[in-house]
Amino acid sequence: MNTYRITVLKGDGIGPEIVDEAMKVLNKVSEKFGFGVQYTEALLGGSAIDAVGEPLPQETIDKCKASDAVLLGAVGGPKWDNLQGDKRPEAGLLGIRAALGLFANLRPAVIFAPLKDASPIRPEIIGDSLDVMVVRELTGGIYFGDRGRETVDGVESAYDTERYSVPEIERIARIGFEMAKKRNGKLCSVDKANVLESSRLWRATVARIGEEYPEVELTNMYVDNCAMQLVRNPGQFDVLLTSNIFGDILSDEASMISGSIGMLSSASLGENKFGLYEPIHGSAPDIAGTGMANPLATILSVAMMLRYTLDEQKAAQAIEDAVAEALKTNRTPDIYVEGTKKVTCAEMGDAVCALI
Ligand code: IPM
Ligand code: MG
Repeated sequence: MNTYRITVLKGDGIGPEIVDEAMKVLNKVSEKFGFGVQYTEALLGGSAIDAVGEPLPQETIDKCKASDAVLLGAVGGPKWDNLQGDKRPEAGLLGIRAALGLFANLRPAVIFAPLKDASPIRPEIIGDSLDVMVVRELTGGIYFGDRGRETVDGVESAYDTERYSVPEIERIARIGFEMAKKRNGKLCSVDKANVLESSRLWRATVARIGEEYPEVELTNMYVDNCAMQLVRNPGQFDVLLTSNIFGDILSDEASMISGSIGMLSSASLGENKFGLYEPIHGSAPDIAGTGMANPLATILSVAMMLRYTLDEQKAAQAIEDAVAEALKTNRTPDIYVEGTKKVTCAEMGDAVCALI
């Protein structure tokens, strides 16, 4: 029997409660499909700051490196908002992505049929289905560029730098093309090449890598237009290839089309199969501990872990099917509509387990 070592980073706010439900579901599929799971917990974000004084302890990096995959909840909260940039919980999240070399972030925006009524987008705009894969570069760009503050002649200013090297663009472009090849063969690369030099290099590099993939139809779109097209006609997209910051913004937008930001999962991958899996939403400190959190994005992140890292395809499918089934009747408050049953975070986890 295979036993997988999973490092669990519960984080802050609703992090611990959503991760608990995801672990429940992972335990359930492990029994059903005959594999073992061994968990190790480690600190990240605000909870790490409180416990040891820094958002990303070396011990956390070491534990993650010694495991097959990482499951992460969310980090951040008002308690730590006044800390200096590199001491904030978010710095721990960016740090762990960089330390593990996780440059490719996959964020699938799919709509589960029963949730069409929960989407703020009209059903005729959504069409029969929504299935967009955002491929976001995760360890470069403005998130990691040169930054600082300076005061000249008594005037304070601050700056952040968007910088991409050719190899950084090449490797994420290849992930995008490979993804498109496995799906509908359509890749839309998003940039701001009408204004930004880094985007012009991005566009030219993506086009050059595209020559290796004649079977994939490559289009380019400016990010402002893409933000608009996503709500006007989301069905035109298959794979969206984006920089770090554009992917951050567009994936939140895409998540709302699918009903709620509480539904979108993600995988962060590097050069090999190792990956970190987390919901795209934040730590929602306002609802932490109330039972109102939606655990489905984290549960679906476990399904992605089973697909991309652990290669347990049947278990992954079983989770996705159970989520689709559970949504027919059970709804956390963020996706509740009349005629369905309002459930807590734990009840949603139980409902998914019962359907596996
Ligand atoms: C995300 C989050 C993070 C990001 C924050 C919390 C640093 O918004 O994963 O999308 O911007 O990458
Ligand atoms: Mg984000």
